[in-house]
Amino acid sequence: MFSTLLVVVVGVTKIWATDYIMLIEDSDIYTPCTEGPPGSIPLNEAFDVTVMEANVDAEGIHVSGNVTSKMSTPRSDRISARLSVLHYNRGSWEPTVFNSHTPDFCAAMFNPREFWFKYWFKNFQNREEIQEKCLGTKGTVLVYEPFIVIPRLDNVMGPTVQGRYKAVFLFEVFDENNVQRDISVCFEVTGEVEKVRK
Ligand SMILES: *[C@@H]1O[C@H](CO)[C@@H](O)[C@H](O)[C@H]1NC(C)=O
Repeated sequence: MFSTLLVVVVGVTKIWATDYIMLIEDSDIYTPCTEGPPGSIPLNEAFDVTVMEANVDAEGIHVSGNVTSKMSTPRSDRISARLSVLHYNRGSWEPTVFNSHTPDFCAAMFNPREFWFKYWFKNFQNREEIQEKCLGTKGTVLVYEPFIVIPRLDNVMGPTVQGRYKAVFLFEVFDENNVQRDISVCFEVTGEVEKVRK
């Protein structure tokens, strides 16, 4: 499901002047965070993804099926979302300037101006149900309209970017007194960014 977010990287990084493509490393696409916050759970523990399909081929990533929330947090909680892009350099992951923080994800996910919507949530059929329950309600089903993600960035300006990158997605939950709950969801997508020859 979250493979669609690859394009987020694309959306956030329109600063270079070349075309790039990201070759995803893992056939599962998203993997548990290697340095997630203590107690954070990966995507496939927070959601039942057994009837979701995400397959990579020459066209892109084909996504379809359903995803069901296994979390159980009150709808009045606030879910914050962070996206950080890291670059692998000399044996370690270094931060880049490409970071984003959405303090209230449930309010942003169907906002047409938000990249979460443009690159991911617009592909869900049952928007009303998702908006009502958001991601934290146990049993909420996110129903995909099948679509293809092309992890490609065109006409980007600035210095050349090349090598191994990962996008880290972190969802955190805060109660109505703004106290952070123990639960957090962390997963990452790692790949090799290559220039596309024109
Ligand atoms: C996804 O959920 C919808 C609505 O509940 C259902 O009609 C459909 O059969 C489900 N698809 C799969 C692959 O389970």
